[in-house]
Amino acid sequence: MLPGPDFLVFAHRGASAELPENTLPAFRRAADLGADGIELDVQCCEDELVVIHDDELDRTTNGHGAVADRSLSELRALDAGGGAPIPLLSEVLDEVGDRLVVNVELKGAGTAGPAVELLTARAVAPDRVLLSAFDHDELVEARRRAPRYLRGALFGRLDGVDPVAASLAVAATTANLALRTVTEARVRALRAAGLEVLVYTVNEIDEAFALRALGVRGVFTDRPRELLAALGRPARG
Ligand code: G3P
Ligand code: CA
Repeated sequence: MLPGPDFLVFAHRGASAELPENTLPAFRRAADLGADGIELDVQCCEDELVVIHDDELDRTTNGHGAVADRSLSELRALDAGGGAPIPLLSEVLDEVGDRLVVNVELKGAGTAGPAVELLTARAVAPDRVLLSAFDHDELVEARRRAPRYLRGALFGRLDGVDPVAASLAVAATTANLALRTVTEARVRALRAAGLEVLVYTVNEIDEAFALRALGVRGVFTDRPRELLAALGRPARG
């Protein structure tokens, strides 16, 4: 079970409505606001995990082309917004890992191994991290290497997939659903199977409250400040 209050606020890519997504300032801001967790996206580069969402550099950095075509030093020299570099997962853990839950979204094949290695080397407490992936093979690999780390089965369009069966198949703690796929019956079925339900990306307050009423455990939002305030948990910073 995820730690924290009944309804969890995860800052999606950090406090990404306020600061450049997936940067240390955005993660620090989320922690300062009192978010329960952050969500971030990792990709492999030279045995390191870099925190960036897209396959291409163009939208979020001053670089161009594919992330996969760049060396680590080239990636690290780029500006990911406001002068901040693309962070390493290890840097994020150093900065905020002891202040909130870190949801590491494993983007792409081969990310589970280095992620588990890093968490293990740093003796990160199992309930401080949630490993999630759309590619459930990465979750299988994470479980094989270190079953103690919590797993979140991510789903986009369901297209006939049963999220209950798919989540149980990887012994997930959470099923992470796209907002457009949430129904009362689906949430009920997932909860009845012992799964906690998280929903992305929820930027409207009324939607977050409706999800809470359905029994959803938490949401990923770009706007943690606004949601925390609406929940009666105003920003500490
Ligand atoms: O983990 C929830 C959400 O971040 C998944 O979608 O595209 O924003 O990484 P995306
Ligand atoms: Ca993500």
